[in-house]
Amino acid sequence: MTDKEVAERTEALLHQMTLEEKVAQMVQIPYSHIGREESLKWAARGAGSFLHVLGDEAREIQQTALNSRLGIPVIFGIDAIHGHCLNDHATIFPSQLAQACSWNPELSRKVGRVTAREVATDGLHWTFSPVLCLGRDTRWGRIDETFGEDPYLSAIMGEGIIKGYQGDDLSDNESILACAKHYIAYGESTGGRDAYDSEITWRKLREVFLAPFKKAIEAGCATFMTAYGSIDGTPLTASSKALKEILRDECGFDGFVVTDWDNCNSLLINQHLASNMEDAAVITANAGNDMIMSTLTFYEAALNGVKNGRIDIKVIDDAVRHILIVKFRLGLFEHPEKKGIPGCIGCEEHLTAAKEVANASVTLLKNNGILPLKGGKIAVIGANADDIRAQYGDWTYFTHPRNNPNHIAVRPYVTIREGLEAIGSTYGSQITYCRGCGPIADPSDDIQAAANIAAVNDVAIVVVGDVISQHGEKKDRANLSLSGRQSELLRAIKATGTPMVCVLVSSKPLCLDEADAMSDALVVAFNGGMFGGESVAKVLFGAINPEGRLPISFPRHSGQLPVYYNHYSGWHSSGKYCDLQSGPLYAFGEGLSYTSFAYSNLTWNADSMTATVTVTNKGTQAGTETVQVYYHDLIASILTPVKNLCAFKKVYLENGESKQISFSFKKEDFSIVLPNEERVTESGEFVLMVGHSSRDQDLLSISFTL
Ligand code: BGC
Repeated sequence: MTDKEVAERTEALLHQMTLEEKVAQMVQIPYSHIGREESLKWAARGAGSFLHVLGDEAREIQQTALNSRLGIPVIFGIDAIHGHCLNDHATIFPSQLAQACSWNPELSRKVGRVTAREVATDGLHWTFSPVLCLGRDTRWGRIDETFGEDPYLSAIMGEGIIKGYQGDDLSDNESILACAKHYIAYGESTGGRDAYDSEITWRKLREVFLAPFKKAIEAGCATFMTAYGSIDGTPLTASSKALKEILRDECGFDGFVVTDWDNCNSLLINQHLASNMEDAAVITANAGNDMIMSTLTFYEAALNGVKNGRIDIKVIDDAVRHILIVKFRLGLFEHPEKKGIPGCIGCEEHLTAAKEVANASVTLLKNNGILPLKGGKIAVIGANADDIRAQYGDWTYFTHPRNNPNHIAVRPYVTIREGLEAIGSTYGSQITYCRGCGPIADPSDDIQAAANIAAVNDVAIVVVGDVISQHGEKKDRANLSLSGRQSELLRAIKATGTPMVCVLVSSKPLCLDEADAMSDALVVAFNGGMFGGESVAKVLFGAINPEGRLPISFPRHSGQLPVYYNHYSGWHSSGKYCDLQSGPLYAFGEGLSYTSFAYSNLTWNADSMTATVTVTNKGTQAGTETVQVYYHDLIASILTPVKNLCAFKKVYLENGESKQISFSFKKEDFSIVLPNEERVTESGEFVLMVGHSSRDQDLLSISFTL
């Protein structure tokens, strides 16, 4: 359908709608909270959307909506955020944070495509994904949902997954709506405390946090979700500056905005901008929210707001227009139910994609030569080596909507223990597992038993991390040290003298200073999805050459947070604490391979604004390097970050092979945001840095002038 046809049909339908039908379109119904009877009443009334309802229950709702006076179909939304994970049989991918370790937008596109097919096959239209918040204060409970700390990398990975979800044509049977969330700066809340105020300025917002959302609009993202929090005292729900001026007028967003869960009511009960529900509805509608998630009282309150002259009917019309435009683009009126590809949920092709993403996400951070393993007797220790819930992390059928820790884990999946047993046997290894302890202290913890087993083996693989009760919404952590008895476990294994490989299965970077010092090798898996355990095993045995690079920095200590790489230059102590070694334990962009890469001949062509570098595989096996490009603006009218990622490319090199890699830029790629919020590129001298990670010692540099 052309844009003109969409616009004409939207206006014609809008013209027929009563005020009540319009306001009902603006309401999104939480099926799992209010149940079938109430949901059917809302469908008959013309509610615009429902969330978290699948299968026949969804079909019944849709039929009821189609039988209503105007028969406007509803959109069904779900949190399919690393695969269609709320469905027991779906393909479960690594978390967004783990995906970001791949630095591969083609893989994030694949994740989006597979997820879209599976969601569509369940008849649904919309996923509340991707999360484009930045994970800079890792105390925050939702770091696993982000693509890490960097705006550029998040923008590129976000663009990939959005294109995968939405495909070339939203109306085809395999495409679903994406939702860029949580707009904006939700991850920057004070102290990493979920949904608190973010103490940032609008200048900072434009400089750091807007880029991934802008890219989402360029990628055609159909919907946005308003964040819970506030910026410098203004809740995003109430911010027409964020929702209208920036999002629509400046960035040109033409889809619809849905609030996060109960944001409207939160203006009354938490944030205290409203003294009654009508106030809350007036603020929410006037600020530019089009669809109101789960606040059912919005309906009466907004009707009263219009009748009392506090909400102009134009505001309601705009909101409904935005929603209807998306419904027409989606082809909803022609095909109210998406058909997807029957039989595709959890099919071989999709499982293969989950393996590919998991393989690319495993990140090797330390290796004194013990890896790859050479066979022999191997002890596998730690609860997270064999805990599929910890491996999956948040937003799966274990956690939503049932929140049932006893829900049966559905095969196929491979834990690290299982992966090592299967792959180890092909290398002639004997694997012995001992739980030792988990992230939460438990009476069944038995450190001595684990040490006894480590002592009689050639190598001990010790898996540490966190579990679902330690992260997610409302589960921020003040202390990111290894929890429970995990440090004690590592010390006990170390004391046996058996070489030790430490593996992290967690939602976020934890403080691994001591673990790093004690281990001979360290591998980060984060939440690797169905085949995360198999991928770790393959990396440990060298069946695959690791290519993961960190999308986020690892702190040495919780008190050091935040420790992101793209900070401003300090003055007195350059950001050092007098009681802690400076800098992160592992920096943004770091990650080892079983081969090594050398960089040479960095050049800059001023006419074409192109940098070229030679990358050589110096080792004995083929491998994939991620060539990273950073820049620094040497003298500017405001502080500028010490370095900013501005480009990267993945390059596969046979051993001994060299390739020239080029990157072209535009002047705007080196812009800054001035105190008056204007984005400009100032002339002057810049430094371009190209290499293996954000660490100075890994980068060649060259200066250029604009
Ligand atoms: C979360 C959103 C999610 C929504 C619907 C909220 O609590 O913040 O990310 O999409 O619930 O489940």
